Amino acid sequence: MATIRLGDLAPNFTAQSSEGQINFHDWLGDGWGILFSHPADYTPVCTTELGTVAKYKSEFDKRNVKVVALSVDGVESHKGWIKDINETQNTTVNFPIIADEDRKVSELYDMIHPNADSKLTVRSVFVIDPDKKVKLIITYPASTGRNFDELLRVIDSLQLTAYHKVATPANWNNGDDCVIVPAVADKDIPELFPKGHKVVKPYLRTTPQPNLD
Ligand code: BEZ
Repeated sequence: MATIRLGDLAPNFTAQSSEGQINFHDWLGDGWGILFSHPADYTPVCTTELGTVAKYKSEFDKRNVKVVALSVDGVESHKGWIKDINETQNTTVNFPIIADEDRKVSELYDMIHPNADSKLTVRSVFVIDPDKKVKLIITYPASTGRNFDELLRVIDSLQLTAYHKVATPANWNNGDDCVIVPAVADKDIPELFPKGHKVVKPYLRTTPQPNLD
């Protein structure tokens, strides 16, 4: 198992899932992707997380992001659990859950942290860009459900950087001013940021969020 770091190519794999066999890179296609792990099927926090992700589908679709979950149980277990998720969370799970009984993918992505739990995965999140590069890694313990609004916020930030040459400051939210990335020369700012900009310091230049009307 090699350490995966930001900027690395997301390792490819083929695995069974609740929606059939998946070749990860083929499944990602040319859009963005999220791979996120769950300690195990039929666990309470995971049940709420997967229900929440299903309800956020239109938000992920808007951002051209496909979502795939993973847990170390098998396909039949996943299918039974999905029925419970749909029933208890009032939704329909609309993304695949990888069956990682042999822990092949969990180990490839370093999702098992033995000093936390020797067998189950922690709550890992990998955001992958259209070049299949890892752009974000988050790790939560099993006992803390993730904040999927934060995940959308980070995706918005990553996409603003990828497509508009801006970064996002502390506690940024959609609609707030952004920071012009240091790689943009002062002379190029008027053409790139026609909405205007402020020079707070030579290294801190802000502009209204570029992708809003
Ligand atoms: C859960 O997924 O609900 C969970 C798993 C392990 C510890 C605590 C909660």
